[in-house]
Amino acid sequence: LDNGLGKTPQMGWNSWNHFGCSINETIIRATADAFIATGLAQAGYNYINVDDCWASSRDQTTNYIIPDPIGFPSGMASLADYVHSRGLSFGLYSDAGIKTCAGRPGSYGFEDIDAQIYAQWKVDYLKYDNCYAGPTNKTIKERYERMRDALNRTGRPIFYSACEWGEMLPAIWFRAIANSWRTTTDISDRWISMLLNIDINDLFANFAAPHGFNDPDMLEVGNGGMTSTEYRTHMSLWSIAKAPLLIGCDVRQLSQETLEILRNSEVIAVNQDSLGIQGQKIRIDLEHDTEIWAGPLTDGSKAVLAFNRAHIINQTISVLFPDLGWKSTSRVKVRDLWLHKDLGEFQGNYTAFNIESHGAQMLKMTLITL
Ligand code: DGJ
Repeated sequence: LDNGLGKTPQMGWNSWNHFGCSINETIIRATADAFIATGLAQAGYNYINVDDCWASSRDQTTNYIIPDPIGFPSGMASLADYVHSRGLSFGLYSDAGIKTCAGRPGSYGFEDIDAQIYAQWKVDYLKYDNCYAGPTNKTIKERYERMRDALNRTGRPIFYSACEWGEMLPAIWFRAIANSWRTTTDISDRWISMLLNIDINDLFANFAAPHGFNDPDMLEVGNGGMTSTEYRTHMSLWSIAKAPLLIGCDVRQLSQETLEILRNSEVIAVNQDSLGIQGQKIRIDLEHDTEIWAGPLTDGSKAVLAFNRAHIINQTISVLFPDLGWKSTSRVKVRDLWLHKDLGEFQGNYTAFNIESHGAQMLKMTLITL
């Protein structure tokens, strides 16, 4: 969507993966504080997004949406002000049906009323879900366009994140509607769920570009269901695939390890590269269960992931330069992005040794001579 936003994938935090419906303004304020204290803000994460369950009802006469009086007694304008006072941006959630997935009021039929109040509250981001759409008898396209137009009419730039779960293949036709669109059902904090989502998302790689990115759902890094190696792979895949980097754990209590996974500047730089081309799976070795993912960067180099999907065993993985569009005689400089370390110059191919099970080496490769 050409609303000036989302030139690179959005970065921030969302309440759903960790807190679900158990959210309140105290958690959101503390999250904004933690963004500053941990350096996550400094690393580029800027949206603090409240997911489902912040709204409770509509005013009977004005139809204005009313925030949950127990969780959000100070109201959303005050919360947005607080987040802004920390130099961050503030996001809310609603739904293109008559109710949200958790049964709170949806925006269908109230798009303008809701968009106007979001703008008044100084909301910067809207995640728009797709539950309880049946009773509207309207297509996904109509329902998502109604909110796009309502947001546009407010005159306030509001990032528009569509959450349609990929059912109608939104990647193919949502570019004119939203700044990002979900390509999958909900992620869970498990290795196979993470892989399933990024594999599906990969099918739509060609539809990603600045101002409209594929969204394989939010990060689970730090939530406890995967190993640190797996979370590092999760972060690597999301970064190379130009997926939104929306942290989904409790940032008020981050381990040093989680923080280092989320905050690695060279990995984030791949995600935020201005070219905005989604890295893809470019080679699969079914026998060894290894993969190479790669994508171009704006300075002409390539981001490359040598990924060991196999259980249990450590493996050696070779990246062949012709797979990257370079000649087999070319000399290439290789850098390890997680370690911030130059690995040297290589001709024809680069071999990553001893990549642990479920691990990946994330590299930047720069052509020296053809
Ligand atoms: C479904 C979405 O896919 C989730 O990300 C989350 O927003 C929930 N709905 C909230 O009910």
